[in-house]
This record gives sequence, C-alpha cells and structure tokens, in this order.
Amino acid sequence: MNKFLPLAAISLVLAVSCAGPARKEVRSSDRVESLLSKMTLDEKVGQLVLFTSDWSVTGPSMRQGYIDDIRAGRCGNIFNAYTAEYTRKLQEIAVNETRLGIPLLFGYDVIHGFRTVFPINLGISASWDIDAVEESARIAAREAAAAGLHWTFSPMCDICVEPRWGRVSEGAGEDPLLGSRISAAMTRGYQGGDLSDPSTVLACIKHYAAYGAPQAGRDYNTVDMSERWLREFYLPPYKAAVDAGALSVMASFNELDGVPATANYHLMQEILRDEWGFQGFVVTDYTGINEMVCHGYAADEADAGRLAINAGIDMDMQSAAFFNYLKEQVESGAVSRKTLDRAVRRVLNVKEALGLFDDPFRYCSEEREASETLTDANKAFARKLASESMVLLKNDGVLPLVKGEKVAVIGSLAASRDDLLGTWRAAGEVDKVPASILDAIREYNGAANVVYAEGCKEQGDDRSGFAAALAAAKRAKKVVMVIGENCHWSGEAASRSDIRIPGVQSELLEKIAATGKPVAVVLLNGRPLDLSAESETAGAILEAWYPGTMGGYAAADVLYGEYNPSGKLSITFPRNLGQVPVYHYAKNTGRPYVHPEAKYESRYLDVPNEPLYAFGHGLSYTSFDYSDITLSRPIFAENGSLTASVTVTNTGAVAGTETVQLYIRDLVGSVTRPVKQLKDFARVTLGPGASETVTFTIGRETLSFWRQDMTFGPEPGDFKLFIGGASDAVKEAEFDYAE
Ligand code: BGC
Repeated sequence: MNKFLPLAAISLVLAVSCAGPARKEVRSSDRVESLLSKMTLDEKVGQLVLFTSDWSVTGPSMRQGYIDDIRAGRCGNIFNAYTAEYTRKLQEIAVNETRLGIPLLFGYDVIHGFRTVFPINLGISASWDIDAVEESARIAAREAAAAGLHWTFSPMCDICVEPRWGRVSEGAGEDPLLGSRISAAMTRGYQGGDLSDPSTVLACIKHYAAYGAPQAGRDYNTVDMSERWLREFYLPPYKAAVDAGALSVMASFNELDGVPATANYHLMQEILRDEWGFQGFVVTDYTGINEMVCHGYAADEADAGRLAINAGIDMDMQSAAFFNYLKEQVESGAVSRKTLDRAVRRVLNVKEALGLFDDPFRYCSEEREASETLTDANKAFARKLASESMVLLKNDGVLPLVKGEKVAVIGSLAASRDDLLGTWRAAGEVDKVPASILDAIREYNGAANVVYAEGCKEQGDDRSGFAAALAAAKRAKKVVMVIGENCHWSGEAASRSDIRIPGVQSELLEKIAATGKPVAVVLLNGRPLDLSAESETAGAILEAWYPGTMGGYAAADVLYGEYNPSGKLSITFPRNLGQVPVYHYAKNTGRPYVHPEAKYESRYLDVPNEPLYAFGHGLSYTSFDYSDITLSRPIFAENGSLTASVTVTNTGAVAGTETVQLYIRDLVGSVTRPVKQLKDFARVTLGPGASETVTFTIGRETLSFWRQDMTFGPEPGDFKLFIGGASDAVKEAEFDYAE
C-alpha cells in the first residue's frame, strides 16, 4: 500500500537551455519537505544507508541482517538484489512495515547490459557509434527496470592510459572527447526523457574522479596529477554525464592530491556542485568510507564518516559508518542537522523523480521481465553492436574467410561461452549465450569443414595439446586461433604487471604459423596488450574484446565478411609495457624525436616512439581514400567558425563503414598543447566506389583549453588540423584563429 497522497507540487523541473545540454533540476516538493519534517534522526540516517543484499557480493565485506535493517527503517537503499519478485518482497517490507513507508531504491551494476550482455565498454567504445551506445543503455535499462531495479552504477567515465589496470575494460578508453560523447549517450539511454517512466533507470557517474590513473596500474592505488591535466583530460566525461542529466555520482576509491575522493570537498562541492551545477546525490564506492582509515586520512570509521558527509557524500555504500555513528554525530554537533537534511533531501528528491512515492512497485513487473528480457530484437542488436566493436588490427589477406573452406580452430577460448560475457556481466548467464566462437564458425562453415583442437589453455604452461593443434592446422586451409585473457583477468582487482598474452598461447601461435598455413588471430581480452610478437607471426589480428551474449556469432560475422569490420581503437596499443603511458594527445617536449639516430632527443634506444597500434586505428575489408582537406577560410575570429571538409571514397570492392577523425594542434599556447588531439569524428558508410564529403565545423569551443590562468577558452594563433582514418594516418591543413 502506498502511504503517500499525490500532491500538487511538481518536483522535477526539466530545464532545457537552448544554448546548452538538458539538465534536470530536482527541487524538493512539498511531499519531500513534509516527509522530512516527520522523520526521526534514525529514519533520516536510514535514507543515507546503502547495503548489499546477499544475492551477489561485489566487494570485501558483507553485513548480515539487511532485511531487519530495512524493517527497522534503518536502511533505505539496497544493491545487488534484483528480479521483480525479490525486489517486490523487500519493497513491501519498506513500504508496509516501516513507520513512514519510504520506498527502497534498488541499485545494481548494469554496466554493459543486464540479461542481454553487450561487449565490454572498452569494446563498445571502439564502435565510435554513439547512437548504438545510447541504444545499448536503453535496452539495458528496460531489462533492468523490469527486474525491479531503479539505479545502475554506470556510466563508468574513467579515462585511462594504463593497460595494466584491469578496469580499463570498463571505460571508453583514453580520449576525453570520445569518452564524453559516450558517457552522455549512456546517461540518455539509461534515464530516457523521463526518469519516472518505469522503463528507465537512474544513471550513476563513476568513479569520480580520476580512478583510471592509478600509479603503476595497480587497482585502488594513489592518483596524483595537476589540476590542469585533471580538468583537461580526466574530468570531461564525468561532466558530460552531469550535463546529460545524470542524478547520481559515485566517489572513487583513490586519493587525489593526497585527499581520498570520498572526503574530497574540492571534487564534490567546488567542482561537481558549484561549477557544474549537479543536483543529485553522491554515493561512496563500496566501503569507501572505512577505507579512509587505511588511507591514513581518518583516525577511525566514525571520523571517516564525519569527514565524508561534511565533504559532500550523501549515501554510504556498505561501510556502515553512517549506520553506526551518524546519529550520534548529529546529536553531538560533529555533523550539522543542515548537512544531514541536505543529504536526505537529495536522496528523497531522486526517489520522487523516479516516481517511487507514487507507486513504489512500478518497476517490479514479472510480465515485462518475461516479455522484454533477452528478446530476439535485443539479441540481434547485441550481435550487431558486438560486430561493430571489433577492431581489425592487422590483415595481410587471410580474412575474410571463405565459406566452405576447411578451417582449423585452435585455443581454449574458442570453445568458451563464459569468457564471451567478460567482467561485470550483471544478470547475464552462460546458458543464455547461444554460441561460442567455435560453435558459430561451425554453423557458418558446416561442421565437417571445421577441425577443432584446444592446443593449450589460456593460462599455464601445458604444451601437451600442441601436437594435435599442429596436426589440425596441417589438415586445414586456414587457421583461426582464439587467444587472449580469460574473463577474470579484466575488471576490478585484475591488474597485471605484464601485458603480453599469458601462458603458452603465443608459443603455439608461432609454431602454427611456422607450418605456413595462414593464421588469423581472434583476441578475447579487456585491455591493450603487447602484441609485438603476435603482430609478426599472425597474418591477421581481430580484437574482439569480450563481446557479450551474441559475441560468438558476431565474431563469425566479421571473420566471414558478413559484417565488414569498422571498429577503431579507443585506446593506444603499445609495443611493450616500457612505452606506457602512450596516448595520442602527447606533447612535443623540448627535444622531440625527429632525427634518426639522434641521441639527445626524447626517444627509446630499443623501440620506436610510435605505438604498435595507434589510437583510432582499425582496418576494413575495403579501403578508403581521403582527399586533401578543404577549409572554408584560412582564418576565423571569435564567435565565428570555419569548416574543414574531406571527401572519403570507398576504393575497394565491398561496402564498409569508416570513422573519419578530426584532430587539432595549437602551435603556441600559454601552456603547451598536445601535438594531436581528437576534436570530432563522423561515421560514414559507403558502397564500393562511393564517395561522401564529410564536413567538420571548428569554432571557439573546439580550440578551448585550460589556459595558464586556469580560465577555459581559446588563444589566438596558428593551428594545424588533421583529418584521417586513424590518429597516425591523417591529411593536414593549417588555419589561424584571431581575436
Ligand atoms: C566497484 C564499483 C561498483 C560497486 C558496487 C565496487 O567495488 O568499484 O564500480 O559499482 O563495487 O558493486
């Protein structure tokens, strides 16, 4: 039973500025204010507590007795619980058995799909297909909301240039512009146009901030960078999601400039709320409050809780610091009543925006759960997105395969359906994955034309399967080797100190290649790998990431040319770990490497400076020719703009999609500028022989950066502009900006 009478006051005001993006301003309604006035201290604290259920546990600690806490009105939010049936059961306790009947908020990590699992986010970002990214979040929201969920802990907006870090798999790669477009698209997809629509879910921007820059790539490790670097390269995707209307933010585990993000006033108040105008609530990450004791920032858990709420945290995920100490701290004055009320108000406002006070059970729907989950349409979309996310790194002509030709498939990962789902697979289940890569190749090619040998596992040094794999290769016309990392080697707490392909997989590849049979490698993995050895031995390399529920079929679609690969790397692949960090927006230095054999220049003695596969790289089964760049004018002034156009022609025999990329260099600045920085991109699909002119507009915003005085804007002077199909394959032009 809903204890709340519908009130006239409307709480959600959608303020759409013509000049800028939509931002939802949540103001407190009469209903929220009236509720607040009736709440006891215990009840208020309860609204700031988020405990995990015992369904799945995504961190180190587990509090028993969450159902009793809900019943006592001391836990107002639950994560890791889903299905319409179970969330209804818990919601009934909150609504019917507590004094005020405030509905629970149910959160979950719906990161790349809910039951229909899409490719991992690093893979999705390699599609550069922003509409498809939004649609994937829309589908995930529909499936999750039907299972009673209101809130996803996504989008993950952490820029990363650190392949050792296991969580690089969860983000959109290295670039702030691409990352921003993706975080905004995901937010729109999750939240839709109206949060109270029961097919949408609340987005949570995470991990705020700069979690993707841990020293040495070790998860949870120290982060330190200049304020300028933070603002220029790390903050934009978080801000883009705020601008798109996301109403919750998760503080990250790391410290930044010596202060843990969980108690970082500068991040949570000065930047997020004061500068960006964020209106929602901020939740900690899992036990983020307790961890400030280990950080050496708080004396004990109580102190940590006080520091967190006073710095801007509204909700405590799983640490129980608010649960145990906050009431007493408010009574003693260590935390003001105003601070407490402000946090409670923010949480209640979001519950109201979700429509929970009107109908707390609106999200739980067995019917929708059955009819909208894992539908044929969702799976078809997942298959297409998985194909789009795959990046053809190398191809000497081995691919595409020809149907009916005998093929040897080798590698334990080829037969795995589990690994296709990757990390953070939400409610995705292995038995809902219809085909491994091997199964799909068999379907495409006829089982009689496929010979499979495991060869070796993806880990360990067992070479006993080598002989059978070599024999299989000899019987076939071509070989497909599926190698990489298993799905547990990516994601949280999965950092590596070596980014080469593990075990004896590469050794086997070398032996197979030595038979003279053409070999195509398909990679399953969640990070940039050092592929310097494989790029020498394999004829083709297809980066398939962890491609999700339909990933087996998607890989076969690409291998057989049913889908012409179009993915482009959203992160640089280094030659070896020694080059890391290596990314496309590097600066020139005072001694750039320009002279072969020069000594006193910024270079390595043992490898070139260039990475193995540059940001934006990705091949196709066709080829694209770029015309020279045409500028609408050579110079433009403030409030003006110029356009830069190229004509792209498909010069091959099959249709294909190309992502045309625009980069810019500001030659002289009050602070030094990157030699190339992505500023825009466009996808074009062209039939054989077809051409299209792609035009980019360059305005003040395109040239803006954090200047020496920390204002954001452009500076007059000379610029270079580059357009091409990869950051290392571009045409060049020059223009001036005058003020
Ligand atoms: C992760 C978050 C996640 C949370 C809840 C934490 O360990 O860092 O990304 O949302 O757990 O599962």
